[in-house]
Formats: sequence, structure tokens, C-alpha cells
Amino acid sequence: MCGIVGYIGDQRAEPILIDGLKKLEYRGYDSAGVAFIDDGAFHVVRAKGKLSCLIDKLKNMGSHSTIGIGHTRWATHGKPDEINAHPHHSRDVVLVHNGIIENYNTLKSEMIKKGHKIISETDTEVICHLIQDHLDQDMPFLKALISSLKKLNGAYSLVILNRNNPDHIYLARKGSPLVVGLGEGGNFVASDIPALLAHTRDVTFVEDNEIAVVSRERALFYNLSGDPVNKEIKKITWTASQAEKGGYKHFMLKEIMEQPRVLADTLLGRVDLEGLSVNLGEAGALLETMVREPEFRLKIVACGTSWHAGLVGKYWIEDLAKVLVGVELSSEFRYRQPLVTPKTLVVAISQSGETADTLAAIRESKRLGARVLSICNVVESSIPRESDATIYTHAGPEIGVASTKAFTTQMAVLYMLAIKLALEKNLLSDHEASQKIQALIEMPKLIEKTLGDLKPIMRMTERLRNKKHCYYIGRGIEYPIVLEGALKLKEISYIHAEGFAGGELKHGPIALIEEKVPVIAVVLKGQLYDKMVSNILEVKSRGAMVLALVNAEDKDIQSHFDEILHIPYADPDLNPFLTIIPLQLLAYYVAVDRGTDVDQPRNLAKSVTVE
Ligand code: G6P
Repeated sequence: MCGIVGYIGDQRAEPILIDGLKKLEYRGYDSAGVAFIDDGAFHVVRAKGKLSCLIDKLKNMGSHSTIGIGHTRWATHGKPDEINAHPHHSRDVVLVHNGIIENYNTLKSEMIKKGHKIISETDTEVICHLIQDHLDQDMPFLKALISSLKKLNGAYSLVILNRNNPDHIYLARKGSPLVVGLGEGGNFVASDIPALLAHTRDVTFVEDNEIAVVSRERALFYNLSGDPVNKEIKKITWTASQAEKGGYKHFMLKEIMEQPRVLADTLLGRVDLEGLSVNLGEAGALLETMVREPEFRLKIVACGTSWHAGLVGKYWIEDLAKVLVGVELSSEFRYRQPLVTPKTLVVAISQSGETADTLAAIRESKRLGARVLSICNVVESSIPRESDATIYTHAGPEIGVASTKAFTTQMAVLYMLAIKLALEKNLLSDHEASQKIQALIEMPKLIEKTLGDLKPIMRMTERLRNKKHCYYIGRGIEYPIVLEGALKLKEISYIHAEGFAGGELKHGPIALIEEKVPVIAVVLKGQLYDKMVSNILEVKSRGAMVLALVNAEDKDIQSHFDEILHIPYADPDLNPFLTIIPLQLLAYYVAVDRGTDVDQPRNLAKSVTVE
């Protein structure tokens, strides 16, 4: 999520760090900072906002040091301001961090008890103090680092300076990417390749549970037992623009592929790995107080893809927690007299946190006395600022206009919300909740599997590329998914696409079916399987070309379809996490085939801050 750079060599570090951070700007960030070792002392400069604000500050506070680290922060814990900006430091340790530390609150209390002063709201600052605490017990630096890492739960890439040793940069990785660039007269460190390309194409990737010690001459790698690890040097052949997209052709594809990781990040620290609890922080406390009201209702407001996530959420919340849920488009809600009361919890879903209609909807809700919970991807954006509580999706910056990874993480939050409410109402036993949570934790792996099978997508792409219209059908919880699938296709390929509930075909849409019209059907094993099969036969007998998403090894119905794509078996509740993946990929490849501007489709904007 955040951007990281580091340099040690025979040149001034400052311009190299700033240049590296500029190369990572495309990822989005809300504050930035750098740290150097100058004459045995740390020199830390941080600024809220764009890099230009940091550069302005450095004009008066610059450094001549030849060792330094830098960071652009995409806020996850604590608002985007100077105090929360990285680098963070203790007396002898200064560091930058990318990732999420799950147990930072517990560690923070331990450190405060021991007399450490922690001033930011981040999950990062505590790591400096943890290392410092070990150093204060006279441990050598590497040992102190390893002992500290063993106490961290969660994901991290860390780049660290030791005040007492201006000749080394220390790195550690678990979950978040980190790469060392090997140059002439100096070495480089970064979270992403683009930051290195101006200096070197020889790189070594830090792997999970590895640490590295980078000096002016070399980089040495160790495992967490302190044993040396031999590493391969790789040559990067990507162009700068390919590198920004992680080697993918478009941000949208990169973001689709990131879904296993960002889903895991969204669950991190919220679901107990033992599978027994759901921790939603301040939002959980709000739910706990409101759910006891006999007239407690939920009203979800959102636009576009976020609205589709809301529709999926309605199925889960009503089914598991038996709470009545209304899902409304923000643009409709804001201009009628909506029936919300102080007993209503309005849930605003927004990737950007800036969508004008959703902002207006929450203002109207508050005027009517409702409480507002937002599910949002951008920390401290307008919608969270005006909400009573927020659950952040940890999708990281989403750059492609067509939303993909934000959708999956919004669904994850809604599913956790449904379980939380059901537990509060004693509608799920601990055992049932634990099974559901375990199934959710399994999702990143199953998504990975689904992303790995591109052949059927390519065959389907071939069949869709010249079509003018395309219809999607699904039932139950797959109905919102086909709406989202159709939205993806129309947004980026400009093919007219509509999603329908299978049961509604007979009330109109079936009139559209003629020879060779493509119908994409989601037909998974479960309650409505037979009904979906009947719907498919109805369209097939009228000449439709049926492209189907079926469960793996579902041989019974395959003969009815023109193309088949296998979805792994999962808890049926959680199928939406798997069915949306091929629909995103299909839209993507069709759009690429038609030569449209995938990341910035015509007439659309990423963040719609006006009506
Ligand atoms: C725009 C974007 C969509 C997004 C919608 C809602 O239309 O192009 O991808 O779903 O806004 O945005 P939000 O940021 O509120 O989720």
C-alpha cells in the first residue's frame, strides 16, 4: 500500500529518495517523509499532503547524508497527518513500514508500561520501541530486530536505520513486498521496482520471513534464525510504465490480481485466527449498542460498484443476523423523504469516501437522527469524517476507474458485519461462527486458484469481442454479482450489458433473446441450482449462446453450455468472492481485445465528487 525507498552509497541520499518517492506517486498517498543519519543523529522530515510539501520543507531542513530512508503513506491506522506520517523513531531506531500490525494495541500497552513514549496513532511506531526495548537490554542490533519481529502479528515490510551504525540499512519482510537494487557505488531499497529503475536493473527480492542488511558494497540476507540465505540477482527488463503496474499491462489487471492479498489484509486483526471472534473496533461498539433496539434497522446507501456490494451484504445480514436491510442508491435516497429514525444504522459504502451523492445521503440521514457507519477505502476522506464510525477496507490505492479489489474487500467487511450482528443476537453458536470465519479466511487461497485459470476466460473473450449486447443471469446472492459483472463489461468494453435475476427473465428480458445472443450464467450447486438450470434451458432453446460459471467437476449440466468456467467449491454464502473474479477478468480481456482505454474508460471518473 505505502511506498518505501532507501539508499546507502557515496552520493547524497536526499535527491535519490525524493526521486524514488516520485516514481511511487502513482500509487496514491496522503503524507510523506524521509530520515537520514547526520553526524550520529537522526534527521527526520515529514509532511502531510503531496511530495511537494515535503520538498518545500527540505529546502530549509535538507541533509547531506549518504544514507537515508523515505516513505509515502496511505493511511490505514490513524489520520493522514504529520504525526502519523513515517518515518517513526525511538532513540536509536528510525523506520518506515508498509503493511498492518495486527497486535499493535497489545504491544503498545506493553511498551507504554515500560516507559516508552508513543505519540502517533499508527500501528508502526510501536515497532521502533520494541526494537529499542531489546537494544536497551544490550542486544546486538540484528538480534534485537529478529526478537522484535517474532513478536509482530500481521504483515510488514520494514526498512530501518540504526543511529549507532550509519553504514547499514536493515530490512525485514512478511507479506508486503520489498526489493533491493544493487548499484555501482551504492545500493537501493524499495517497495516497488519503479523506484529503482533509474539507478539499476539488478535486483534481489526480499522474501517472507527474511531480513537483509544492506551496506554501500553489498546486501546480505538472513532467515529469522540468523542464518545466512543465498539469493539470486535478477535482471529487470520491464519498462518504467510496466513497472508501475507491477509488470501488468493495466492497473485494472494488477488490482484484480491483488485481490487475494488485499482480502487477507482486510481480515487481518479483525477475525480471530482461532475463528471465534470478529473485532470491528469502534464500529463493533456502535453495532453492539444499536442491535439491542427492537426497531433496529439497517439502511445501506452507496453508488455503482459499492451499491452492488451493499446488495450482497443484504443477503448475508438478513440471512445470518435477521436484521431488516434496505439498500438504496445514494442519488435516490437523498432526494426523497427516506424512512430513517434514530433506531436506524445507515451504512454508507464508498471506495473513495468522496462520492457526492453518498455524502449527501449520510448528511440527510444524520439530519433525521440516524447513526452512520461507513465502509470506506480512503482513510479520513469526507465520508468517514462525517460518520459515527468507520470500517476501513484495506484494499490499498485503487487506480483503475472500474472498481475491482475495493468491491471484494467491501464484501469481506459486510460479511464480518453480518457475523458480528448474528453473534450479538445469539443467532450463531460459537461453533457455527468459527466455521464461517474459517471459510472466510480460506477465501484468499480460493481466489488465487480462480485467478490461475485464464484459458476459459480467453475462449469466452473470443466469443464476446464482436457482440453488441450481453446478458448476465444469476439468482439469490449471485444476482448482485451478475449486476456487477455486467457493470464491469459495460464500463470498460462499451458493450451493452445487463444483469438479470434468473426468475425475472419471463417478465421481460427473455424477449431480448435471439440466435447467438450471449448469456453469461452463474449456476452453482446450492438451493437455486435447479431453478437456474431451467432458466438456462429457456434461453438456450431460444438460441442464446450460454457461457456458464459452474462448480468444478459439475458434469451434469455441461452439455447445455457453449463455454464453461469452473468455480471451486466453497461455503455457498461465500461464492460471490469467487464468481466475481472471472467476471472482472472477462470484462478486462474483452476491453483489451477491443482496444479501449481500460484504466480510464470514456466519460467515467474514479471519484465522483459532483452530482
Ligand atoms: C464511480 C466509479 C465507480 C464507483 C462509484 C462509487 O462511478 O467509477 O467505480 O463504484 O463511483 O464510488 P465510491 O468511491 O463511492 O465507491
